[in-house]
Amino acid sequence: MSNNVRALFDNIWQHYLKVTPSAKKVHQLLGAGEDLINDHVAYRTFNIDKVSVDKIAANLIALGYKECGTYTFEAKKLNAKHFEHEDPVLPKVFVSELLVEEFSPAVQTIIKRLVEQVEASKVAEADFLYSGVHWDLSSDEYHTLLKESEYAAWLAAWGYRANHFTVSINHLNNFDTIEAVNETLKQGGFKLNASGGEIKGDAQVKLEQSSTMADAAIVEFSDKAVEIPSCFYEFAKRYPMDCGNLYSGFVAASADKIFESTNT
Ligand code: NI
Repeated sequence: MSNNVRALFDNIWQHYLKVTPSAKKVHQLLGAGEDLINDHVAYRTFNIDKVSVDKIAANLIALGYKECGTYTFEAKKLNAKHFEHEDPVLPKVFVSELLVEEFSPAVQTIIKRLVEQVEASKVAEADFLYSGVHWDLSSDEYHTLLKESEYAAWLAAWGYRANHFTVSINHLNNFDTIEAVNETLKQGGFKLNASGGEIKGDAQVKLEQSSTMADAAIVEFSDKAVEIPSCFYEFAKRYPMDCGNLYSGFVAASADKIFESTNT
């Protein structure tokens, strides 16, 4: 079972690197070329039944993942769930979905047209998690989405791929604190997401997170090619709960700000 999961994440990682070349530099800076343990991988989808969180997650459940938490993000009009595998070095997976019905008719029409083009049978295949877009999208439609939801625009442009990977600071050999990680990244030339402060959360909520701002990459829209924000890298340090185990959930107030790492 774990081998299948590892193969899946290798594929997801390779697909992510294609539009996130700076991830390699992150590994050099933090791991000196050693393999890093990822705390979690994040996905975005729409709450339309064919591609809902539960449909996306069916691939993970089949590989031994279990649903372990639910979250709501009112301002961004999102719901999310997170999934864990019993093998603790396998990344958790955080999957959010946009509440499509809460947007304008123009945005809803675009999103429904995109999802109509997805073949339902493809969603159930494991490679869906690194399959990218299943639709055509014009640059005008992208900008219409962007005006109401950065999240919707990103998802329409990039589709089904990891939105970010997340280094587990707890597993790094050369770093103990998120402050030291952030300092090393900044000295390495990275711009960190400063929305809500560079460090989201604290020991009190058992989770500290920071992230880079997304790389930029070219998207081939149906009418022209445009460079837009692609994917980013996140960093997480978890603290033990009273029982001694590390907290394994997510903090909605922190994740809310992390979403902004793909802002233009
Ligand atoms: Ni994350």
